[in-house]
Amino acid sequence: MSEMRDLIATFPEQLRWAAGLVTPSIPPAESAIVAGMGGSGIAGDVAAVVAEAASRRVTVHKAYGLPRWVAGDLVVAVSHSGNTEETLSGVQAAAAVGAPWVAVTTGGRLQGKAVAAGAPVVAIPFSPQPRAAFGYLAGAVLRVLEAAGVLPSQAGALEEAADVVASALAGPAHEAAAAIAGRLAGRVTVIYGGTGLGAVAANRWKTQMNENGKAPAYWSSLPELDHNEIVGWTASPQLGRDSIGVVFLHDGADHPRVALRARLTGELIAPVVAIAGEVSSVGSGMLARLLSLTIVGDLVSVELAERAGVDPVPVAIIEDLKKRLTDQPGGSG
Ligand code: F6R
Repeated sequence: MSEMRDLIATFPEQLRWAAGLVTPSIPPAESAIVAGMGGSGIAGDVAAVVAEAASRRVTVHKAYGLPRWVAGDLVVAVSHSGNTEETLSGVQAAAAVGAPWVAVTTGGRLQGKAVAAGAPVVAIPFSPQPRAAFGYLAGAVLRVLEAAGVLPSQAGALEEAADVVASALAGPAHEAAAAIAGRLAGRVTVIYGGTGLGAVAANRWKTQMNENGKAPAYWSSLPELDHNEIVGWTASPQLGRDSIGVVFLHDGADHPRVALRARLTGELIAPVVAIAGEVSSVGSGMLARLLSLTIVGDLVSVELAERAGVDPVPVAIIEDLKKRLTDQPGGSG
């Protein structure tokens, strides 16, 4: 059993930790911006789809600074290390316009800045990699947004998600992952999800293939891909058949026309790409359904790493890039 498999096995515990989290006092807000990158930033994507389902507005910011319209929104800066320069520049932008902000982190400069500014800090337990702290990060961001009044109570949704992920990890997710990984091995993974939840799940699959599997992967969402990408497979059918493996992600709440499009799109592209598998969400709440899809992708990515003989945990090239950036003038924060 690899270290990353052990870490993934802790996701139910991570979600339960978040369900029981006692948050510090958070400034009340109508809406929020979640600023963060990579394995931390996806917590914002999760929060945005949960908010949308509750008719609330959470915007995700994955870049330097903040959107110019920021004032009035609560800024949630999420960084596992606390040292990600884009996220640090976001809190600098929040401070510059007097927007309230909160840090979700294990420490680093983000924690130091929050303490110095009197901004609330939600400390999450350290994991060997940010993407392996998915339950802590997404759960803590949801609880912070609840504490601000942006989202309704999240504890029940987190408990349900923990149960659904634990059931998946008891067997079905491993079986699905092994079958899909077998068909993806040696191919470039392309993940197709529906709108909202499906798109977030597809993005997590892609980034896990990249970071755990050390492999190229891409994602798109329906219905948009039916207006462009679907054509892109047609000129070189042999290339697609030999090199591309497409995985479809389905959710019971997908718009009926999106569900129909997924079926028809699969039928139309099957002659020109390899269809590597389909995964349907389980659970009732938005969060549980989302994580029931991502847990399979996490396991596929580890399976692919094992088949390729690479260690899923380290991301040496990201560390190298961050060091090179630090060595150059102009690092923010
Ligand atoms: C590494 C990973 C990366 C980091 C990203 C931001 O496991 O997932 O995508 O999450 O480079 O770093 P943090 O999360 O420390 O702000």
